[in-house]
Amino acid sequence: MNKPSLSLIASLVLLAATAFAVTVVAQTPSPRRPHHKFPPPTNLQVLPKNLTGDQVHQIMEGWAHALGTHCSTCHAVNPNANGPLARRRLDFALDTKPEKATARMMYEMVQEINTHYINRINTSGMPVTCATCHRGHLSPPLYLPHGGRH
Ligand code: HEC
Ligand code: HEC
Repeated sequence: MNKPSLSLIASLVLLAATAFAVTVVAQTPSPRRPHHKFPPPTNLQVLPKNLTGDQVHQIMEGWAHALGTHCSTCHAVNPNANGPLARRRLDFALDTKPEKATARMMYEMVQEINTHYINRINTSGMPVTCATCHRGHLSPPLYLPHGGRH
């Protein structure tokens, strides 16, 4: 009884492995249309330095949405870049815009709020994010209780 069930398990494992291999091969991008990979970051000062380019990109999409804004709000082109094309592309590692410095400070503020305050509420599964305050606006909209009359 032991032997046949073992070989059954073995062939099931083999089948699963084959299915997995086929899936992996099927998902491997063809050379003509490669999956777009974002380059690894070179100038992270507040985000974890071991983030991949894709992870940074995902966080950035989140910030842009939370603030209802675009990459160019915080990122600038490099006027000294080589070639006319590069001079029109945003240079994400560049630190020329004050909004980028503000965003770094905001990120540290959010980390501190969550680490030292929100995390101490046992029931809280909801950390503070950029969207908690910004709600899709660069300047957080004013909340006027009772329609503005106190
Ligand atoms: C609200 C400001 C803000 C917006 C909007 C924003 N970024 Fe950023 N971005 C930053 C800050 C701040 C850093 C640096 C983080 C750090 O120092 O750890 C950064 C870093 C990056 C980096 C890493 C650069 C490097 O080499 O270190 C990339 C890439 C990037 N942003 C892409 C984007 C893209 C793409 C968008 C639009 C979808 C975007 N950002 C929108 C503030 C912003
Ligand atoms: C506790 C509330 C709060 C949170 C959370 C918060 N912000 Fe802010 N943020 C503000 C306030 C208030 C201002 C000042 C708005 C003004 O001057 O009109 C501001 C200003 C900014 C500005 C400057 C806007 C400008 O007009 O120059 C940027 C950029 C920014 N925040 C990015 C972020 C990012 C990115 C996050 C998340 C990592 C974040 N903020 C999280 C409250 C918050």
